[in-house]
Amino acid sequence: LTSLPRPALHEATAPSLSLSQRPRRNRKADWSRRLVRESVLTVDDLIWPIFLTEGASGREAVSSMPGVDRLTIIEAVREAERAAALKIPALALFPNTDPALRDPMGSESLNSRNLVCRAVREIKKAVPEIGIITDVALDPYTSHGHDGVMDGDRILNDETVALLIRQALIQAEAGADIIAPSDMMDGRVGAIRMALDEAGFQDVQIMAYAAKYASAFYGPFRDAIGTSATLVGDKRTYQMDPGNSDEALREVALDLEEGADMIMVKPGLPYLDIVQRVKETFAVPTFAYQVSGEYAMIQAAAANGWLDGEKAMMESLLAFKRAGADGILTYFAPRVAEKLRA
Ligand code: PBG
Repeated sequence: LTSLPRPALHEATAPSLSLSQRPRRNRKADWSRRLVRESVLTVDDLIWPIFLTEGASGREAVSSMPGVDRLTIIEAVREAERAAALKIPALALFPNTDPALRDPMGSESLNSRNLVCRAVREIKKAVPEIGIITDVALDPYTSHGHDGVMDGDRILNDETVALLIRQALIQAEAGADIIAPSDMMDGRVGAIRMALDEAGFQDVQIMAYAAKYASAFYGPFRDAIGTSATLVGDKRTYQMDPGNSDEALREVALDLEEGADMIMVKPGLPYLDIVQRVKETFAVPTFAYQVSGEYAMIQAAAANGWLDGEKAMMESLLAFKRAGADGILTYFAPRVAEKLRA
């Protein structure tokens, strides 16, 4: 038997498989892929977290977050103007407090002239159209780097909430549009809501860090706000166990009952299953935080030429939308906004 001559590919007249469904048909051209795309990322999905530092002017690089700087208030106002021009809806502010002002109680958090409050006032004055989110938690202000006050090695819940209420009030007075408790104390959302209402801040929104995990991915953030070196122990008695998912639903349910207007899941990419469950279960505005370590991983791999940083950035953010997130806090926000505009 001699082998049969093989037909050249171009001579093939009929497909060799008889398939009624060929999913590749919808992918054959860019116009068709765009037409059938289910999720898209737009600038309206972005919240830009920025770091603040004292000083008359200038900025300081955060070494574990290439491309991210701590900004003096003057620079923060300039960046807020840029963000508004790019149509980024909101900024989230995080202070690197002067170490001399940190103490075990986090007293500087209650100073209405602290770095965050001054920045809120200046940004609101210059760029009233951008939303300002302020973080409620004690960690940028405590000498031990925890989000609450301590008794020995215990983080005290109710004593901490009493301080968080006052912190939220001075932030609202400074002009914050959204108060974002990131401390994970029990009952803080309800307590803050009540205090805001009593003080006449009915329109100030609450974005609760509802499902916030005790994560290794926060490392570079702690460098940025200056708590890495001082943090004593870990945050596992208040932040959630990475093995849990049902517990995230209970946390979200509580924060909504207590008055949260929107909720957040954090970290982001390793917790997309939580984003999806939360969105499907509660159908409320759901945000995800692409945290500092996620940003650093993409930047580091890109700097080494190990992956295409820009493509990885866009794909990672689109994945949040596909999982059901209504928006994403991301350090890539200005870069993405520039790219989406181009
Ligand atoms: C603390 C807070 C953290 C982040 C936001 N608020 C860190 C922590 O819990 O230690 C992390 C954000 C990031 O990693 O980008 N209140």
